[in-house]
Amino acid sequence: MFYLQTQLTLYNFDSYQILDDGGDMTHWIYKKHPALFKKLKGIVEESVTGVYRLYQLSKKGKLCIPTMNVNDSVIKQKFDNLYCCKESIVDGLKRTTDVMIGGKQVVVCGYGEVGKGSCASLKALGAIVYVTEVDPICALQACMDGFRVITLTEIIRQVDMVITCTGNKNIVGREHFDKMKSGCIVCNMGHSNTEIDLTSLQTTELKWQRVRPHVDHIIWPDGKRVILLAEGRLLNLSCSTVPSFVLSITATTQALALIELYNAPDGRYKQDIYLLPKKMGKFLSLIYSLKNK
Ligand SMILES: NC(=O)c1ccc[n+]([C@@H]2O[C@H](COP(=O)([O-])OP(=O)(O)OC[C@H]3O[C@@H](n4cnc5c(N)ncnc54)[C@H](O)[C@@H]3O)[C@@H](O)[C@H]2O)c1
Repeated sequence: MFYLQTQLTLYNFDSYQILDDGGDMTHWIYKKHPALFKKLKGIVEESVTGVYRLYQLSKKGKLCIPTMNVNDSVIKQKFDNLYCCKESIVDGLKRTTDVMIGGKQVVVCGYGEVGKGSCASLKALGAIVYVTEVDPICALQACMDGFRVITLTEIIRQVDMVITCTGNKNIVGREHFDKMKSGCIVCNMGHSNTEIDLTSLQTTELKWQRVRPHVDHIIWPDGKRVILLAEGRLLNLSCSTVPSFVLSITATTQALALIELYNAPDGRYKQDIYLLPKKMGKFLSLIYSLKNK
């Protein structure tokens, strides 16, 4: 941050852009360098959180430059969320626990893109997969894809693994942990570290035992153990590799969004939040399809 602060005071950053993932840089420049913020040529934002922060700024009427929401572009949703999670969830589970997936009963919370990828991968290895969903359309999709849609309370006693993919808060709470069977694995593929309510596990009667990096056993007074992975943070980003092909697509998407904002004629993009033009997603898909031939 010191280096950046020095750069900002030394150079004239007139036509610069921000490429952000989470909105921290945007927020910092907005707060600490308001004059520079107004002169930016645009912001490209990658994450749900960062886009949310941009919308908050916009609602207050404080967004004075064009911005591009890469997070909601089809190409990001399909590759980063669906295929990346499909390829990396099992890697994360194996590296941390060496668990046999075949025959295990798994409940996946949320059947959006991340949930779909995770379910497909687990099913392919022979797991019996249950899904919890609050959106009727996604619930019907899960049903049509052959998964039993159920509530977490109904299924929690019998599952071997609980995986959250909702982007929501406190999906797995103490009331669920208390009903899990011993040896149940709990992990998160969704938003940051908010989906599993860890605060409810910080009580005196429960013991925490770190058995190896990213693997904690939480031990109940009767000896029951629940296995928590990556302290509730994203399993694949914390414990496995992610395909470089997907990272390459994400990086190219961001670069195209920056070029689009930079080269756009005056007036095409106003002081608002735009989705990446669909034609760019198609262009990228074409390039990567040719690369894969
Ligand atoms: N692990 C990774 O590599 C990775 C990659 C991309 C995105 N993400 C994160 O994963 C999260 C999900 O992303 P997505 O693209 O699947 O989002 P999405 O909006 O497509 O899907 C989330 C689903 O969860 C459902 N849901 C919300 N609250 C629920 C609840 N209480 N119980 C059951 N279902 C509920 C929603 O109805 C929705 O269908 C986001 O936070 C995203 O940032 C993770």
